[in-house]
Amino acid sequence: MSSTLIDGFGRKVDYLRLSVTDRCNFRCIYCMSEDMTFLPQEHILSLEEIQRCAELFVANGVRKIRLTGGEPLNRKGIVGLCEKISATPGLKELVMTTNGSQLTKYARPLAAAGVQRLNISLDSLCPKKFKAMTRVGELQHVLDGIQAARQAGFKNVKLNCVVIQGLNDDEVLALTDYAINHQLDITFIEEMPLGNVGRSRATSLFSSDKVRTRLAQHYALLDSTESSGGPARYLRLRDHSATRIGFISPHSHNFCSTCNRVRITVEGKLLLCLGNEHSLDLLTLLRRYPADNAPILERIHSALYNKPEKHHFNSEGEVQILRFMNASGG
Ligand code: GTP
Ligand code: 5AD
Ligand code: SF4
Repeated sequence: MSSTLIDGFGRKVDYLRLSVTDRCNFRCIYCMSEDMTFLPQEHILSLEEIQRCAELFVANGVRKIRLTGGEPLNRKGIVGLCEKISATPGLKELVMTTNGSQLTKYARPLAAAGVQRLNISLDSLCPKKFKAMTRVGELQHVLDGIQAARQAGFKNVKLNCVVIQGLNDDEVLALTDYAINHQLDITFIEEMPLGNVGRSRATSLFSSDKVRTRLAQHYALLDSTESSGGPARYLRLRDHSATRIGFISPHSHNFCSTCNRVRITVEGKLLLCLGNEHSLDLLTLLRRYPADNAPILERIHSALYNKPEKHHFNSEGEVQILRFMNASGG
């Protein structure tokens, strides 16, 4: 049983973002509220169900799976799950987005389990500010984690930085220098209005164009058409060829027309778009049809037909989607 996953606008879906937990050891201010509550165990997909989802989607044309969270390394059994998913025939890339804080323990096991690339969140190089942005995180754990990832052989480690006006926009150059000195890629992200994080996002948008202007004052920038199969647009630096600068600009440079992905939340919801509520309850279907994927695939095709054309985030920054980022799969 195999098919191609195509939505109602003719976009082919070959990238699955698979969330393995809504939990996290950080509480980043753009992702969660301070008093976040998490899903009870009985409401989340089991490891076997996550693996079944991965296999079903790969059998139907998905070629890249990104494991997300919450913090994926907070899920018990994550390394074994990676081993199983990476062995799925037809899958080209298994990658992960992590906060990096546990990589001194996990980088080598993840590499051995077939994870090919890591994206690591890093919003500040100042320990106090890092703590303010993550509410609880220790910068040094993440810096050690980044080094551990390199030592474990991960290539193209990418840093993700959500830029917030007045908080870390003054660190764009320092973070870029760090990426250059450690031969890493770095992507600057415009904050998306998911969940009520107890702070107005209205005045804090720092656009990708502003980041680019700052960078252009210090580096010779070269436009690039390369893609990592995600939403980022990339630049190269003339004098530092090992580092790519990415921009994820949901507000200022909408990328929905080339959208190639869907998400599965750890609650087992197939989310057709990060910025819309459309979803399909896969958890119920997986449990109703424990040994037959055909009826589930049929429902996935009809859901996909209704994948929204685009998100409607606007730069006023008010909350438009109540679901938090950690519950959405990043
Ligand atoms: P690469 O494989 O390196 O291209 O990864 P990626 O950029 O697709 O994934 P990552 O998990 O590093 O996500 C970086 C940022 O992009 C996060 O803020 C995500 O929420 C955001 N992002 C990823 N996919 C989408 C999408 O479909 N829509 C929107 N609005 N944001 C997305
Ligand atoms: N807007 C944009 N990016 C976000 N992330 C988490 N919350 C938000 C948000 N509200 C990013 C994290 C991580 C990735 C999975 O999503 O920084 O790198
Ligand atoms: Fe955790 Fe990532 Fe959300 Fe930060 S952005 S709280 S590291 S899930």
